[in-house]
Amino acid sequence: MPGILLGDVFPNFEADTTAGWIKFHEFLGNSWGILFSHPRDFTPVCTTELACAAKIEHEFKKRGVKMIALSIDSVEDHKHWSKDVMAFNDDAGSPLPFPIIADDNRELSVQLGMLDPDEKDKDGLPLTARCVFVVGPDKKLKLSILYPATTGRNFDEILRVIDSLQLTAQKKVATPVDWKPGDKVMVIPSLSDAEAASLFPHGMTTKDLPSGKNYLRYTQL
Ligand code: BEZ
Repeated sequence: MPGILLGDVFPNFEADTTAGWIKFHEFLGNSWGILFSHPRDFTPVCTTELACAAKIEHEFKKRGVKMIALSIDSVEDHKHWSKDVMAFNDDAGSPLPFPIIADDNRELSVQLGMLDPDEKDKDGLPLTARCVFVVGPDKKLKLSILYPATTGRNFDEILRVIDSLQLTAQKKVATPVDWKPGDKVMVIPSLSDAEAASLFPHGMTTKDLPSGKNYLRYTQL
């Protein structure tokens, strides 16, 4: 069964891209990475997504995350399409600030389990779904999100989860529903109250629950 699971080392694939030939791990270096796939070049939803990603590239850079896109067309198509994307952003003439992988033989899309069986091209071949893979500096998969071709992604949410991933990689906390940077976080269940008291100088608040179990423990970092 092709695909990749949380905690797996992301394949060190080789591919042709709009920035030349890459080996994925070398491309990432010691950075975090995000790989997001698109069904096809010159399609409307994909164009809005790539344009959004280009507009907020500085937000990924600020977080030390290297960006790379993928679509099942050629480098030549990607380069032409990139011009449309930047024009959509009213930034015609500027280069797309991240490379796009050419997966025109669908090899990588199959290996990473990215094909959407419900969306086919005119020849009946499946298109790529809208996958998001976030890879840590240890090259392991930290997050994957899979949307069908017909639903565009929300890049604010992608930045939000990267903030959570980077925070929880450093501290023994978890982020609750709709968490945003600066909000209170939750102390993870595996930590005793005594351990939490020594780790979190701002203390901890616990919400009383009918079960009497003190598992809803918040702290402010
Ligand atoms: C799009 O990007 O607009 C799209 C691509 C494939 C299927 C449906 C929509």
